[in-house]
Amino acid sequence: MTTSAEPVRPGPLAARAVPPVPRLLRLPGVYRPQEDTALLAAAIDDLTIPAGARALDLCTGTGAQALTLARRGARTVLAVDLSRRALVSARLNAFARRLAVRPCRGGLARALGEGPFDVVVANPPYVPSPAPTVRSSRGWDAGPDGRAVLDPLCSAAGTLLRAGGTLLLVQSTMSDVDRSRELLAAQGLRTSVARSARIPFGPVLSGRTAFLESAGLIEPGQRMEELVVLRADR
Ligand SMILES: C[S@@+](CC[C@H](N)C(=O)[O-])C[C@H]1O[C@@H](n2cnc3c(N)ncnc32)[C@H](O)[C@@H]1O
Repeated sequence: MTTSAEPVRPGPLAARAVPPVPRLLRLPGVYRPQEDTALLAAAIDDLTIPAGARALDLCTGTGAQALTLARRGARTVLAVDLSRRALVSARLNAFARRLAVRPCRGGLARALGEGPFDVVVANPPYVPSPAPTVRSSRGWDAGPDGRAVLDPLCSAAGTLLRAGGTLLLVQSTMSDVDRSRELLAAQGLRTSVARSARIPFGPVLSGRTAFLESAGLIEPGQRMEELVVLRADR
């Protein structure tokens, strides 16, 4: 396990195949579970969840991560999202599986008000975007550097976590994994890379390669991205 804030570079790392993407009920407009969903869920599966754990899934979408936390034995699971449709989807998915998940509308401030937690997981929006985020792209767009949600989340992680608690966070190397590690380490958290995978660009990234290249966020001609699940332990 790497415990220092060593830089993470695009490259093979310990990249493994992306696990199967979960099939979940989803209201229109809610983020479709995809490779980042599956990679984070696999990292949760690797985690030892302490008995009686209080868990948070921030940016829950369909509730994919919240369901994994509940299935793995977390005592309480709070599923937070800005989108009402996401919360309805998460509630229905939990109900169908008889898993106890508490959907809750809001963002980081709401989560901080409910904390601290033993386990925090997040698949936040992290895609760099040339245009302001609108409701229809809120599931993935995150400002020009992709860090509109990552920066406040990483800066608050030490407060969200109980002593001994663990954060798992998935993002692309395109949105500066080193910056996330620096922000987490600045709060005394030990960081490591839990999982990573290289995947081809999907439709969103394929449609903005000119912006990404001109912003220096990808190499000319690059059409693969690397997803990283960061782990931070308090
Ligand atoms: C990439 S999706 C992840 C969905 C799900 N957790 C998964 O792994 O498939 C991001 C989700 O975050 C929500 N979201 C966007 N900005 C948010 C914020 N500031 N606070 C809370 N949720 C947010 C979106 O509505 C969307 O459902």
